[in-house]
Amino acid sequence: MAAANVTKGLVGIKTIEDFDLKEKRVFIRVDFNVPMEEQNGKQVITDDTRIRAALPTIRYALENGAKVVLASHLGRPEGPETFAKFSMEPVGRRLGELLKAEVILTDGPTSDAPKGLLPGLRANQVILLENLRFEKGETKNAREFALQMASYTDIYINDAFGASHRAHASIEALAQAVDKKGIGFLIKKEIEMLDVLLYTPQSPYMAILGGAKVSDKIPVLENMIEKIDTFLVGGAMAYTFLAAQNLPVGKSRVEKDKVAFAKEMIGRIEARGKKIILPVDHVITNDFLAPSKIATTDTAVIPEDMLGVDIGPKTRELFRKELSRAKTVFWNGPMGVFEKPEFSKGSFGVAETLASLTANGVMTIVGGGDSAAAAEMSGQADKMTHISTGGGASLEYLQGDKLPGLEVLRNLRPSVQPTL
Ligand code: 3PG
Repeated sequence: MAAANVTKGLVGIKTIEDFDLKEKRVFIRVDFNVPMEEQNGKQVITDDTRIRAALPTIRYALENGAKVVLASHLGRPEGPETFAKFSMEPVGRRLGELLKAEVILTDGPTSDAPKGLLPGLRANQVILLENLRFEKGETKNAREFALQMASYTDIYINDAFGASHRAHASIEALAQAVDKKGIGFLIKKEIEMLDVLLYTPQSPYMAILGGAKVSDKIPVLENMIEKIDTFLVGGAMAYTFLAAQNLPVGKSRVEKDKVAFAKEMIGRIEARGKKIILPVDHVITNDFLAPSKIATTDTAVIPEDMLGVDIGPKTRELFRKELSRAKTVFWNGPMGVFEKPEFSKGSFGVAETLASLTANGVMTIVGGGDSAAAAEMSGQADKMTHISTGGGASLEYLQGDKLPGLEVLRNLRPSVQPTL
């Protein structure tokens, strides 16, 4: 590994390319926690981005002669009565289609199946373990459980960026129990991209922040305040910032205990000569679940009996103009309730602006979760520089937290010199 070329977040971490995989049993922890919907009594995948994102690592392992075991969690199953709903079966089927290989779905990691099947595994076959969270030991980071997985693992590869902020058995305890370990291509790319935001963003650097809660964004705001030139705030969190400026926001969702923080944040951003741009108009409704009245305000003020559900047209234009000066953009959190077409214009407008900025050489990074879903739904997702596959993981990384899934793989000891 050429140290000089390694981005800061990956120093001391090996990648799959550092190992000879031939005939080795390679356990790849992937994040196949994909959104599902019940259709005609069956669980159907509604977005397979995370499965596609893992393909380069799986293909590389197969092409280099590895015997591959894949493992992931799916959802948050609560006891055996929920297991049918959270089975990896639809994931295995989709993976087989994408990979053009045979995916053998086995019982869980503690069954005899993986050990039994591995020696005879052919070049176009992979093993997919049943949902890791069917085993209690997974979320408890249990060593005993991890040792069972380690017993059929020669090389451990973590490519589950979206789950790397979890100190769970397949992420941490298993990596501790295996000598040869590293990351796959997905995590490598994710960290390289997020490190640009952390260490070498080109100015003007702008952050579009939205979503439901200010509280989710406090640490990232704190960690990035020095680097970001303009903050554009939309989504429900904007109402807390507007309330901090004593503007009436009607029935909109306000985090009362965060109003003081929002006020202080506005002051701190402005004191540094940076900008914070809040909505100047809104799309409003009387009830966002069953709207019988929908309107657009003229100003930032929201009438008493209404609540904000999206940024308005003037705000969309204001954001577009400001963003047109950017060289680096980070987007986390939708501008409104984008799942409903009537309230999607703000988020889709941001996605369209970012897509055209990317075409002009601007670095645009979308921080996973709901903003990634909004970008996807807008049809602009493949036009961004990078869309993270990890909502929580990307935020934790950007707020300066150490991800257990990376730290367990890091070896910072100076290499031992042979004694002559
Ligand atoms: C995610 O979807 O953010 C990851 O897969 C982690 O899932 P979790 O929040 O259930 O741990």
